[in-house]
Amino acid sequence: MGTKTKPEMRSFKGLFSSINQKWKTPLELYNELNKEFDFDFDPCPDEPESDGLDIEWGERNFVNPPYNQLTAWMEKGFEEFKKGKLVVFLIPSRTDTRWWHNFCMKATEIRFIKGRLSFEGFGGGSAPFPSCVVIFKGGYNGMEKS
Ligand SMILES: C[S@@+](CC[C@H](N)C(=O)[O-])C[C@H]1O[C@@H](n2cnc3c(N)ncnc32)[C@H](O)[C@@H]1O
Repeated sequence: MGTKTKPEMRSFKGLFSSINQKWKTPLELYNELNKEFDFDFDPCPDEPESDGLDIEWGERNFVNPPYNQLTAWMEKGFEEFKKGKLVVFLIPSRTDTRWWHNFCMKATEIRFIKGRLSFEGFGGGSAPFPSCVVIFKGGYNGMEKS
C-alpha cells in the first residue's frame, strides 16, 4: 500500500483547513442582513485586534465565525444573547453536531439558505456545504424548546 492521500480525503481536509477559517461573507448577503438588523459589531472581523471570544460584544452583532471553533463561538454568542444582545450567525448547517443542538435549537429563528454560498476567498466557486443564518434576538427567556 502506498501513502498517497485518497482524493476524497484531500477535499475533506480542505474543508476544515486553517485557510478556510477566513472565508468572507458575501457582500450581498451581509448588506441584506445589515439592512434588516443594523449591526454595530463584528467580533471576528477580517483583521481582528482582540480575541472575540474574550470581549464584550455590541448590541447588534453579525458573526461569521472561524469554522474550526464553532462550539466556542456559539457558546459565546449564546451568552451575549442571554444578556439581551442581538446575535446573528452565518454558519454551516451542521444539524448533527452537539453545538447545533445545544445552541442553534434555542435560537429565535433559523433561515436555511437555498443553494450554496460563494464565499470570497474560496476561489470563486460555491461552498461545499449548506449554510444558514441563525438569529438570537429579543432576549432569552430561559425556556427550552421541546
Ligand atoms: C469566516 S471569517 C469571517 C470574516 C468576516 N467577519 C466576514 O464576515 O467576512 C472569520 C474571521 O474570524 C477571525 N478570527 C479567528 N479567530 C478569532 C478570534 N479569536 N477573535 C477574533 N477574530 C477571530 C479570522 O481572522 C477571520 O477573519
